[in-house]
Amino acid sequence: MLNCQKSKFQLDPAVTYLNNAYMSPLLKSAEEAGIQGLIKKRNPFNYGNQEFFEDVSVLKQSFAKLIHSNANQIAIIPSVSYAMSNVAKNLVPKPGGKIIVAEDQFPSHYYTWSNYAKLNNQEIQIIKANPNAASWISKWNEDILAAIDDKVTAVCIGHVHWADGSLFNLKKIRAKSFDTNSALIIDGTQSVGALPLSIKEIPVDALIVGGYKWLLGHYGLGCAYMSESFNDGIPIEDNWINKKDSSNFERLVDYTEQFEPGAARFSVGEQSSFCLVPILTEGINQILDWGVENIYQYDSALQKRLFDTLQGSSYQISPLGESSGHLTGIRMNKNTDMNQIKQQLIKQQIYVSYRGDAIRVSMHVYNDFDDIDKLSESLLNLETN
Ligand SMILES: Cc1ncc(COP(=O)(O)O)c(C=O)c1O
Repeated sequence: MLNCQKSKFQLDPAVTYLNNAYMSPLLKSAEEAGIQGLIKKRNPFNYGNQEFFEDVSVLKQSFAKLIHSNANQIAIIPSVSYAMSNVAKNLVPKPGGKIIVAEDQFPSHYYTWSNYAKLNNQEIQIIKANPNAASWISKWNEDILAAIDDKVTAVCIGHVHWADGSLFNLKKIRAKSFDTNSALIIDGTQSVGALPLSIKEIPVDALIVGGYKWLLGHYGLGCAYMSESFNDGIPIEDNWINKKDSSNFERLVDYTEQFEPGAARFSVGEQSSFCLVPILTEGINQILDWGVENIYQYDSALQKRLFDTLQGSSYQISPLGESSGHLTGIRMNKNTDMNQIKQQLIKQQIYVSYRGDAIRVSMHVYNDFDDIDKLSESLLNLETN
């Protein structure tokens, strides 16, 4: 199994950081890559034409390897909402059709679809969860599957729920959505890089991933997989760099309607950011080096410790397999004062997130059992029955 990788980061040692789902710390190596990218602009004559393309191409290859895809089908994106808009612009609605989303989905994966529904006369169907019921995550998955029928234009969902790590069974959802000729649009921001997902095994229509969490990048750059069905699509912006032969700087004003192949047309303008691209590439390459399966195993062992230590207390936490190994939610009984918990954890410099009525805990390769025990002890000391 992977060892704790704290030494590869520069996290403040006084802090217990269990909040990767909010934002990952930077790898030392990624920080160095970013600094070199920054310094290079001291002498702009060092940027040759090829500089605008080569590092982007390496980034696409690394991301494609991570999700078992092909670099041609990868676009470089500034945000999840940007890529979602590209998908929505090119998704053909079924007449009087439906869009399926999960309850309390992240806004960037909701607003696009609620607007799409309004503009295209679609019903937006929100599949609700009931965390107070037994086996509620299985039931949630069953309800999602039951809702997928011939009227569904697209199922727009995550691999996990961003607020508490609830796992969605994408294999079954893909099978049912294929049967009903419905698209499957995945926001992988809270899963890709920590939870394995292979496009070969689960051929989704689009997989959109913000880069600053589980891909270990900086803020402002991510990657999207777009299936071949979008290859003739119309992008939301008309930038020069996605157009055919854009690397020939002397002929840029030989305007053309043609694009570079694959998903290139959906990459953002100024995609070649000389700081952000090397940082994100370094993050993904480190993930590839560790192996996503190994990362998942490591994070899951930490989560199991949390589950075991809170077992029998008034705190409820979903069992592994129902929530993903790297991200989970702790719910508490009605008498427990959330504000008191917040104050206590802040005092002890334990960082988690508060999402709805759950404490979101996200553990990663720089954490160890001591971090988990510190959180559990603190919560158990505040317990009210
Ligand atoms: C599931 C999920 N998607 C997307 C984002 C970020 O969206 P955007 O890149 O549009 O700001 C977040 C941020 O927390 C998230 O948790």
